[in-house]
Amino acid sequence: MRDESRLIEEIADGKFHSGEVIAKSLGISRAMVCKRIQSLRKNQKLTIQSVKGRGYRLAQPLELLEIKTISDALSLATKESLDLHLHHTIDSTNSWLMGKASDGFPSGSVCIAEQQTAGRGRYGREWISPYGKNIYLSLLWRYPLSPTEVSGLSLAVGVTLLRVLRQIGLNDVGLKWPNDILWDGKKLAGLLLEVAGESCGPCHVVIGVGINTSIDEQSATAIDQPWVDLATIPGFTPVSRNRLVAMVLDALLTTLNGYQYGQLEPYLSDWKKFDLHYGKKVSLKSGNSEIVGVHQGIDRNGALLLTTADGTQTFHAGEVSLRPA
Ligand code: BTN
Repeated sequence: MRDESRLIEEIADGKFHSGEVIAKSLGISRAMVCKRIQSLRKNQKLTIQSVKGRGYRLAQPLELLEIKTISDALSLATKESLDLHLHHTIDSTNSWLMGKASDGFPSGSVCIAEQQTAGRGRYGREWISPYGKNIYLSLLWRYPLSPTEVSGLSLAVGVTLLRVLRQIGLNDVGLKWPNDILWDGKKLAGLLLEVAGESCGPCHVVIGVGINTSIDEQSATAIDQPWVDLATIPGFTPVSRNRLVAMVLDALLTTLNGYQYGQLEPYLSDWKKFDLHYGKKVSLKSGNSEIVGVHQGIDRNGALLLTTADGTQTFHAGEVSLRPA
């Protein structure tokens, strides 16, 4: 695996690189270079051209993630609080970090990957995670609180991610409760928060962030919901993946440090402003049951308020999924 990630680094610029030079630089034989190239085509689904006399080249250059580039772009306070782990390929950054949390990894441990082979979305969905595209990152944080008391974090983190996306120039992004980020009704980014711990605290939470920066055609066919990526949003100037990772981490850290149970006030006005369904008729589904009513916003703990003929009821994230009615 080490050879393969180093090989991608060699050819990431999209120019031709001779097998001989690659072999020398990696300290492996030319036959092994050829074998590794085949494996990258098969496992990472990379289109690598090979031309006799010129060598190998990636059909499209890649901006690979680099710990140093990300670190250099972080604020000093964030840099000191985080421990970054970068993986070439992994099953799921959330699964890996949940495992490491049980092994005692501290708050601020971060897992970033170029590819996920079993990326996970909400409601047991798969999160399609092709190599070298998009952002897949997870961040571990520990709280002296109970799992119930950190449930509001999901909303705070949604607003935090939305603010970052607006900061990079995306004006038309909105939120779908509890924390889907949509552009033109299509999924641009998603959050998967997983919490574990004692029922009365302490607990830890792994915040998984997926942002579609560029989805290739082959991966697109596997996505089972309307989606969009940054590369295809008209008028949007592409942003460096490394820089975007750093911006997300900086913003998350501020939110995680400041989070207090029942104190979602700093997020409520932005939530209301960017909530795509606020004041509209929506349907909340849970298994086979469905309830239709008017979405009246969220309470101070992030629960959704729905008004029906029977009055206003409260629903918690994870219990129900929301659709426009
Ligand atoms: C959603 O369904 O909206 C949530 C998607 C979350 C995807 C991210 S990608 C990084 C992290 N690792 C995972 O396996 N999932 C989350």
